[in-house]
Amino acid sequence: MRTHYCGELNKDNINQTTEICGWVNRRRDHGGVIFLDMRDKRGIVQVVINPDNSDFALAETIRNEFVLKITGNVIARDDSLINPKLATGEIEIVAQTIEILNASKPTPFQIGASDTSEEVRLKYRYLDLRSNEMQNRLRLRSKVTHYMREFMDKNDFLDIETPFLTKATPEGARDYLVPSRTHPGEFFALPQSPQLFKQLLMMSGFERYYQIVKCFRDEDLRADRQPEFTQLDVETSFMNEDEIMQMMEEMTRGMFKSAINVNLGDKFPSITYANAMSLYGVDRPDMRIPMQMVDINELMQGVDFKVFSGPASADDSRVAALKVTGGASISRKNIDKYTKYVSIYGAKGLAYIKLNEDGPASPILKFLGDEVTAKVIEMTDAKTGDIIFFGADKTKIVNEALGNLREQLAKDLDLFDKEWAPIWVVDFPMFEANDDGSLNAIHHPFTAPNVDAETLEQTASTALSRAYDLVINGSEVGGGSIRIHQVEMQQRVLRLLGISDEEAQDKFGFLLNALEYGCPPHGGMAFGLDRLVMIMTNSDSIRDVIAFPKTQTAACLLTDAPASVPRKLLRELSVQVSLPEKD
Ligand code: AMO
Ligand code: AMP
Repeated sequence: MRTHYCGELNKDNINQTTEICGWVNRRRDHGGVIFLDMRDKRGIVQVVINPDNSDFALAETIRNEFVLKITGNVIARDDSLINPKLATGEIEIVAQTIEILNASKPTPFQIGASDTSEEVRLKYRYLDLRSNEMQNRLRLRSKVTHYMREFMDKNDFLDIETPFLTKATPEGARDYLVPSRTHPGEFFALPQSPQLFKQLLMMSGFERYYQIVKCFRDEDLRADRQPEFTQLDVETSFMNEDEIMQMMEEMTRGMFKSAINVNLGDKFPSITYANAMSLYGVDRPDMRIPMQMVDINELMQGVDFKVFSGPASADDSRVAALKVTGGASISRKNIDKYTKYVSIYGAKGLAYIKLNEDGPASPILKFLGDEVTAKVIEMTDAKTGDIIFFGADKTKIVNEALGNLREQLAKDLDLFDKEWAPIWVVDFPMFEANDDGSLNAIHHPFTAPNVDAETLEQTASTALSRAYDLVINGSEVGGGSIRIHQVEMQQRVLRLLGISDEEAQDKFGFLLNALEYGCPPHGGMAFGLDRLVMIMTNSDSIRDVIAFPKTQTAACLLTDAPASVPRKLLRELSVQVSLPEKD
């Protein structure tokens, strides 16, 4: 239907007759002359319709977002009318004939307008996706997956699909369930990841597998979480963690270079989980921020200030300091704001010392005394003009409070010293203890420990695993591990997790059986594609890089899913709905 794309016309096309198709981005009536900005997937071009055009009357009926086919002549614009902001700004098309391929109702919002509520954007997602920003984000997403496939193919990975209708795959979230019609009373679970299937594929001898695949997790949603999201899922046999990390790093580097021309640098640094928690308070440190927490437990054990001396000597507790360069100018009002902010994480206060021109100032100086104050200043390397914040509580509370405060301060005060900061986090603990003392797998229950089975049983709460996460700019973009490939070890780990042998057989019997038929050593990793594209496009929300995302309450405003279904269907599925009584 067309000879050219709107966005690709330029001076080389002057005097040519062109046929373009697309949408009316904007229509302007300049008393007698009509201007149309015509848009297609490649960009925008201006069309002029003069009053002597035989289609002029038709043109007067045209409105924004009509779909047109226009035949016309490309001419140069007068120098004074050149639009340097538009790729096609040096030319315009003088229309000869106009064909309305379809009309459009007035749109509920202006395409691309930044003040449209997200609710409306999601309800009319097909219109929202017409905007330049959304088109660019999805184009970039496609570039990223293209690069991933190319890299994987080049490295001899096989793209193999795994089922969506399957059994629970434990990754720590709730399952989405699908009732079975043919097995009344029984349910499929949608996979939280293809974890067990990719391990089985290693047992089948494929050695290198990948898949760009949807995963389903019914969990509390945040800005970087969706109930269905996409992973680049990878598994290999006969490679150790260093080899796997090196290969995944090479892919990540190439992907950033090819998709957004960013050089992530030579070998990515790595940090142990313990150090990440101690220095940054989180297991996904944002290394663009040159600020670290300093442990001052020992120093605070003897002070006459219970708020500090208590946690300084108690188990599972810590006192930590966070120096903010130039922070002495933070106002009282803003300190109150940050105190409120850390209270979200359970902190009972936010003590501070300001280093003013005339010396340290703080409500807690009188409790600490000159000597301890001087020592804190020395330990944090604070200078005149800085502020030191303190956290004293259970370690978990201090880490979350100061860790998140560090990131918030960096945003508010623009304290980033680089644009891109990838880092591997390694040496994760195998387990974390619940309040009742029972254990949870930190990665997933198929991750290999880095000790033998006896040692693992004796030191379960402190043993480390062979897991690794890739963090870029404070976002966990991927994670993986070496897996358990011996059935005895797998059984022992499941027992440590409080899963009886019977339950293990019931849930993972197929895996345990398969492990007994010559399972190779294997491991792998999965990248969160949505998160990668989110940070590459500098988007605030994961929803901005997904064509048809769900809301924070896991609903689709476009299709109105989830929805109730006719009783007849429920009967066929042997499902009865019993809603909790409303108050
Ligand atoms: P994990 O659970 O760490 O590992 O997931 C891998 C990566 O997937 C992304 N991700 C998400 N992205 C958007 N919304 C979500 N709800 C969500 N949950 C996770 C993250 C994360 O790093 N089977 C293992 C991988 C392996 O061991 O090979 C797994 O799924 O970027
Ligand atoms: P208080 O003696 O409770 O008034 O506290 C004195 C200072 O210590 C105030 O600035 C509080 O915000 C701060 N503070 C109180 N509890 C904590 C805590 N657990 N961690 C850090 N600072 C605290």
